[in-house]
Amino acid sequence: MEKNKPKIFITRMLPERGLNLLFQNFGRENVKIYLGETPIPYEELLKEVLGMDALLCLLTDKIDEKVMELAGPQLKIIANYAVGFDNIDIAEATKRKIVVTNTPGVLTETTADLAWALLMASARRLGEGERLVRASQWAGWNPTLLLGVDIYGKTLGIFGMGRIGQAVARRAKGFNMRILYYDIQEQSLPKDLEATKVDKDTLLKESDFITIHCPLTRSTYHAFGLEEFKKMKRTACIINTSRGPVIDEEALVQALNKGLIFSAGLDVFEKEPEIHPDLLNCPNAILIPHLGSASVETRSRMAEIAAQNIIARLNGQIPPNTVNPEAL
Ligand code: DGY
Repeated sequence: MEKNKPKIFITRMLPERGLNLLFQNFGRENVKIYLGETPIPYEELLKEVLGMDALLCLLTDKIDEKVMELAGPQLKIIANYAVGFDNIDIAEATKRKIVVTNTPGVLTETTADLAWALLMASARRLGEGERLVRASQWAGWNPTLLLGVDIYGKTLGIFGMGRIGQAVARRAKGFNMRILYYDIQEQSLPKDLEATKVDKDTLLKESDFITIHCPLTRSTYHAFGLEEFKKMKRTACIINTSRGPVIDEEALVQALNKGLIFSAGLDVFEKEPEIHPDLLNCPNAILIPHLGSASVETRSRMAEIAAQNIIARLNGQIPPNTVNPEAL
């Protein structure tokens, strides 16, 4: 690494498009990448971050006070390769005047597509069907085999009506659905979305499908527990593509096993990559490994945006996706 040139540490190999931008702007020799196949161990991160001006990290990296302290006072930006940033201690970063950025916008449609894939798969029991076929246990067409619930014309409840929630709602129009949403923030929605804001209880009681699109905060932690599942329709499906801890997994297992709800489609889990062992045994849960933004195009755009945020900050500008402007 060259003296006096800004130094950047990246906690995992990322798509070329983003890396090349950083190489062009700061020189290949000043960009260090952790090349492991799994997330960088915390202890290693603490060593690698020393002396860096920018840290490009993933949602799997816990960026706390210690990481910031060991990096040193020259650390100017933590660029998260995700829209969610609950892995970063924002208050601590702000106190230290470290700008934190995320990658909003580019993954909205990709994540909405996946929420719909999960919604349809859990409504129509695709996981069970696939397992049956692969186990060579399908005995042929049967009038009562794996009956699911209809989607068309039903009520969709959206928990968190930000960018992704709205993209999910747009898709629901093609299914002639009634759209309800709950959000603690005032959202100005396009009129043609025809979505109705309701309180949480109404959302729980009236929705046939509930899809979660809120960030993980103190107030959304375990927003869905046993009390909530009891209020839902016995035929309802719950979908989560936001953050695992918004659902109390223990309570969800009970709800699925006791038939309090029909099914669940989960992309995210409380303690990723661990999954509640009893959830693995619930046939009416579709479980996939945090794939919300996982398309070739979107992951590449996310890398580009994270790199652009770093370039802006290290050139003395305000990065376009700053989440803590108070740090500046
Ligand atoms: C995000 O960007 O927060 C997503 O969870 C990544 O897929």
